[in-house]
Amino acid sequence: MGRHLANAAVRLRGERAPPKVRLSKSGALGTRLATIRFVKRDEGVRLSWQGKTCVFDPATTEELRKVLVAQDGKGRLYLGDNRAALASMTSTELNGRVSLAYLDPPFLTNRAFEAIEQSAPESGKRVVRSGPLKARPKKFAFDDRWASRGEYLEALGQRLVLVRELLAPHGSVVIHVDPKTSHYVKVLCDEIFGDDAFASEIIWRYRRWPSKTPNFQRVHDVLLRYRKDPKAAPRWNQPYEPLAASTLATWGTKKQRAVFEDDGRRARSSRTEEATKGVPMGDVWEIGVLAPISKERTGYPSQKPEALLERLVSALSDPGDIVLDPYAGSGTTLAVAARLGRSFVGCDASDVAFEIAEKRLATAGICFEAAEELAAPASAKGLRRSA
Ligand SMILES: C[S@@+](CC[C@H](N)C(=O)[O-])C[C@H]1O[C@@H](n2cnc3c(N)ncnc32)[C@H](O)[C@@H]1O
Repeated sequence: MGRHLANAAVRLRGERAPPKVRLSKSGALGTRLATIRFVKRDEGVRLSWQGKTCVFDPATTEELRKVLVAQDGKGRLYLGDNRAALASMTSTELNGRVSLAYLDPPFLTNRAFEAIEQSAPESGKRVVRSGPLKARPKKFAFDDRWASRGEYLEALGQRLVLVRELLAPHGSVVIHVDPKTSHYVKVLCDEIFGDDAFASEIIWRYRRWPSKTPNFQRVHDVLLRYRKDPKAAPRWNQPYEPLAASTLATWGTKKQRAVFEDDGRRARSSRTEEATKGVPMGDVWEIGVLAPISKERTGYPSQKPEALLERLVSALSDPGDIVLDPYAGSGTTLAVAARLGRSFVGCDASDVAFEIAEKRLATAGICFEAAEELAAPASAKGLRRSA
């Protein structure tokens, strides 16, 4: 009976044979605590939902509404569904050349989001940005309402299989989600990229106004990083963080050298004359959310701080590389990528987001013209690499 139940629990859709299960021999309790040995990768754990496909399929009936290309050839903006945009990119020079794809999809909140108007529509004058949020003019930005979790995961999975094609062998994808969704997305990514392609789960810890809730305050998001090809050397520029106060007090800002006794045991480290860069960055990042009066604020909902994107773009791409953001929103990733000398490709289905992103990039000196590919997809010209 115990064996039967344990087998049933790990038997998954589409598998030919159930994975091997070893049962403890010690009595009833031992039987309930059956230990599952190992599941081979090709028999891996899979999420299942009604209508699941998530296969690579560049055919789409969705139409793009606008495609703009930066006049210097180093950026692109797509207005429309990102599945259509990603699918069309797979038949251009972008395919297999993206170093970093950052995805900040809606978080399955079952809410519609509004943007706060930054300028009065007719007068072009800046709207006063003080006063209660509720009183300020707003317009619809994007919808995060879904029929089910399955529908959400299906939509994300369909985009991820296209993103995987676009990545260079050295490239990686970072998916930004919250703790209510991250465990589902992680299993989905294990399936699409392979569990050996999993690189990091980054916790972005922020401080915000406390809520009156009988629970620990929710103060983090989750960023999942997967590599395209775990056998290829990854794009990686080592970031550092400051030394701990106790280390600074003992060692100052000079590098330490590990010292070992003759028998191999660690002895007290010695100080060198070389200045330390800090400690290699960990996977818990404390970065402030955008302050209500921050200059970065565009009024777009769910806008992420540039400091977060700077860290990702600098670590995971080189100058001249291509950075992709298919859920671009207000264009944070694109603005940061351009500032750091990367080429960028962004897409958003929201007119409001597209307009804000285009303006934001124009402020950074990037001007766009209409691309040819809306009229003739096959003639799409690829991105020029910057020097
Ligand atoms: C969380 S916001 C991104 C915010 C962005 N990181 C920023 O800093 O402004 C998610 C964005 O995904 C866009 N989006 C959702 N589904 C989409 C789809 N299928 N195709 C294109 N864009 C989509 C929404 O319009 C929204 O702007």
